[in-house]
Amino acid sequence: MTASKPFKILILAGDGIGPEVTEQAVNALRSVADFGGYDFQFDAKLIGGVAIKQQGSPLPEATLAAALESDAVLLGAVGGNEFNQLPPDKRPEAGLLAIRQALGGFANLRPSFAWPALANNSPLRPEAVEGADILFVRELLGGLYFGEPRQWDKASDSAWNTLRYTKAEVARVARVAFELASKRRKKVTSVDKANVLEVSQLWRATVTEVAQEYPGIALDHQYVDACAMHLMNTPRNFDVIVTENLFGDILSDEAAVITGSLGMLPSGTIGGAVNLYEPVHGSAPDIAGKGLANPLGAILTAAMLLRHSAGLEADAQAIEAAVKHVLEQGYRTADLARGNAPGIQVVSTQEMGQQVNQALSHILDRSQALHAV
Ligand code: IPM
Ligand code: MN
Repeated sequence: MTASKPFKILILAGDGIGPEVTEQAVNALRSVADFGGYDFQFDAKLIGGVAIKQQGSPLPEATLAAALESDAVLLGAVGGNEFNQLPPDKRPEAGLLAIRQALGGFANLRPSFAWPALANNSPLRPEAVEGADILFVRELLGGLYFGEPRQWDKASDSAWNTLRYTKAEVARVARVAFELASKRRKKVTSVDKANVLEVSQLWRATVTEVAQEYPGIALDHQYVDACAMHLMNTPRNFDVIVTENLFGDILSDEAAVITGSLGMLPSGTIGGAVNLYEPVHGSAPDIAGKGLANPLGAILTAAMLLRHSAGLEADAQAIEAAVKHVLEQGYRTADLARGNAPGIQVVSTQEMGQQVNQALSHILDRSQALHAV
């Protein structure tokens, strides 16, 4: 961001728990703007089920236009049980896939981090998750999600989707993975199913070729089934994992187990005209509106927005430190109630957001005082 122009953030809260967790993420962004004197401009539009109901489309034109004009898009979640009978192209999820495609970001970054304070909240043993810090780079614009032809042919009682990647599509997402690994522990694991699928053979050959450009980075390959197991056995052994769209969707939900809850996971999609930020969790209609949702995934997503779109690394770190602090203080939303010990306090979505914001204000206050001397 530059000092002279406002930084435009489009909020697409969406369905289910989307609005309540996004509200808390926006509060964190507002605090950052207040303390830093940044000119963040917020606009809000409809997407998903709420957009179908009010405007007849899961991605109304006004939403897409506003997204393309913004500097970053922060999305909550889409989907709801009442739409489950609709064909895929009419569902709320179609709006999400369409906006991903329109914004053009192809590298979906999904960090999965074992917060020390949550070691007892994972169903895995604390010594298994301790120190795990994984960054998934999920290819987001290709594979089965977008491949043509696709059809459910009722007349022949058969259905098909197409798994297709070009070398260029694999190479560009591989480069993102290697670049990010160079700033981390310098290891990339590429995940495929090259023992069965031609697409995976292309994937593996391309990632291996791109690796030549990054002599300082160690590359290994795993089959997706084996990776699913290693993730639970030895999550500490992974640094950056790069994989195709559907494998990345599945493995990143699995990796939530390391963190203790899907509600903890943030994501950011980079590489397009406008970057798109969305927590990994879905709309969770069963708990929507009850104050049970965990806003930390959305709040950490706001931190990723500051890091990758606004160039505000210190502020991103301040939000992450605030989350760490409230977890250490013992605050937990209901999804993190497993293994609760004395000193643990179960709080609502809003209370959790307030705790983070309070901690964030202290952290920003302190860093401002330091800069003033
Ligand atoms: C995700 C979600 C989406 C996906 C759905 C809602 C279309 O599961 O972001 O992981 O499959 O990409
Ligand atoms: Mn998913």
